[in-house]
Amino acid sequence: MTINYILSRLYNWSSRSFVGIIKRKLLPNKRLFNDRRVQSESAILRERFQVYNTSNLLGITTEEFVESLQSRIGISDAQVEGYSEDELGRQRDLSIKFHWGHNHDFGEFKIEGEMRDRHINLLANFTTLFPVSLQDFDGKEVFDIGCWTGGTTLLLAALGSRVFAIDEVRKYAEMAAFLAKSFGIEDRVTVEARSIYSCNSSDFACRFDIVHFPGVIYHLSDPIVALRILYNALKIGGVILIESAGINTLGPYCKFRGNKSVQKDSDSGWAWFWPSASALFRMMNEAGFGQVKTLWHVRSGRVYGYGKKISEVGICKAGLSVPNIS
Ligand SMILES: C[S@@+](CC[C@H](N)C(=O)[O-])C[C@H]1O[C@@H](n2cnc3c(N)ncnc32)[C@H](O)[C@@H]1O
Repeated sequence: MTINYILSRLYNWSSRSFVGIIKRKLLPNKRLFNDRRVQSESAILRERFQVYNTSNLLGITTEEFVESLQSRIGISDAQVEGYSEDELGRQRDLSIKFHWGHNHDFGEFKIEGEMRDRHINLLANFTTLFPVSLQDFDGKEVFDIGCWTGGTTLLLAALGSRVFAIDEVRKYAEMAAFLAKSFGIEDRVTVEARSIYSCNSSDFACRFDIVHFPGVIYHLSDPIVALRILYNALKIGGVILIESAGINTLGPYCKFRGNKSVQKDSDSGWAWFWPSASALFRMMNEAGFGQVKTLWHVRSGRVYGYGKKISEVGICKAGLSVPNIS
């Protein structure tokens, strides 16, 4: 192994990956410690989420609430999403047919979501892996991207955050807004049906303390522009929390998946680029973030990332799909 080879590998690893490798060699019990921490954070989050129980519904009866949920789940409605007949065959099943996102025990009944307890696990992992605690969400302005049926949004609100959530799929944004209204928290939770790419206007500038961005970046055609939009949306000192499908390799690579090859009923598809931790690290750096940490999360087989907006820094505009982005 030549010195050049070693240096090129070091250059391609994110500092987080490198430190992770050293720590794993030196601290074999760290995983045990992390597992305990994740479990205790999960227990707190689970308890907080219990507030969204039919006994706490406001201005709606349990029967009306159940009827409203049941009337949407499983319904296919391409028109409401604006798809024309001739483009339907190429669309994502999830965008056409209503699938529930995260598990929700409403007390008198439960709904099992496609993503099971991901909303709980994500926050428990973020607060275990990165310098952010559950208390840090209290009283903060949080931007929740790709909220699906609102599991993540409700959980963030239960931690005391004021949440602005978006989803590009109208029916999901409407459901998340309906849940917030039904539990009387619409003064702290706003949900809009819009794409992340529409959040590039001055009213988003320096608005949020935390951007919660799990499970979305690999669905995007232009992750760099998305990251820059989110960087611009953060206040100075604000942080971004990212989780993504990805590849477990040390180099700064992305796997191109594409959407055409995916079976319609597959739950693993509808993705453009799957980044490695090192690729995500570089993307976040390019977008302007500082104190970036990324890693391959062995237990979930996904990539995690954290970054901070330390100051206003520019971005190289060559080749950007939105050349006038600030
Ligand atoms: C895999 S789900 C993740 C849900 C949740 N964030 C989580 O991590 O569990 C991805 C969600 O992002 C939404 N989404 C995909 N592309 C988007 C975009 N460009 N803007 C806003 N939402 C988007 C999808 O409609 C879907 O609800």
